Amino acid sequence: MSPAPRLRAATLGDGPVLLDWRNDPLTRAASLDPRPIGRGAHLSWFAAALADPARQILIAELAGDPAGMVRFDLEKARGGPCTVWVSIMLAPRARGFGHGGPILAAAMPACRFRGKPLRARIRRGNAASLSLFRAAGFEAGPDDGTDILTLTKEPTMTETSKYDAIIDEIEAVRSRNNKNWMDILRLAFRHSPQDAAAILREIYKEDKAISDLAAKLTE
Ligand SMILES: CC(C)(COP(=O)(O)OP(=O)(O)OC[C@H]1O[C@@H](n2cnc3c(N)ncnc32)[C@H](O)[C@@H]1OP(=O)(O)O)[C@@H](O)C(=O)NCCC(=O)NCCS
Repeated sequence: MSPAPRLRAATLGDGPVLLDWRNDPLTRAASLDPRPIGRGAHLSWFAAALADPARQILIAELAGDPAGMVRFDLEKARGGPCTVWVSIMLAPRARGFGHGGPILAAAMPACRFRGKPLRARIRRGNAASLSLFRAAGFEAGPDDGTDILTLTKEPTMTETSKYDAIIDEIEAVRSRNNKNWMDILRLAFRHSPQDAAAILREIYKEDKAISDLAAKLTE
């Protein structure tokens, strides 16, 4: 039986080893973009990915050694539902022993983007990957005949809190409304900059009063 994987957040120090795994011929053949990646491009992409709140990169260790990586990328559709794209990659030496299934199964509950559909894009010929995603409850959508299949795992009722869905909706409406507020501000400054500045000063004064009151709550 394979040892249980231990998951941890990826750190900058994982960059070089992930580059080796990514440039391995089998990984490249499975990737959506099979071209080899240069060290500089990879390390700067990796640093940005670690700092990106819409990405989560987990390293799976087996018996203390890094053996795999699972990445979750949150895609925020404007005004629509979000999707979390999942990808998995094992160290070449760790492949072929059935470690992928337990690593994926351990990673999904650790995903910090909760209550959203999980999706994976997998090449039609990648039998091992298709097998492990299917075993984890992912299902293929309609087959459009292309080389890349999209498999989806819908969140369970307990994962999708009704609060998450409402908060997502509020977030989308707020971002639309923010544009309306900025349009009003542009209009006001275009036509009457002094009056607009006076009103803005008042708004900031009141906002500061709110911040001071809020600070009292956290004392
Ligand atoms: C995909 C990947 C994570 C799978 O790793 P793994 O768990 O070591 O894969 P295994 O070879 O143990 O196979 C996993 C399952 O697929 C099955 N499988 C493997 N090759 C198969 C084939 N040619 N036909 C049918 N089933 C196959 C295995 O029998 C196993 O099923 P089981 O768990 O029910 O026994 C690993 O190969 C990898 O990192 N590949 C490069 C990156 C990649 O392809 N990522 C996926 C894209 S999202």
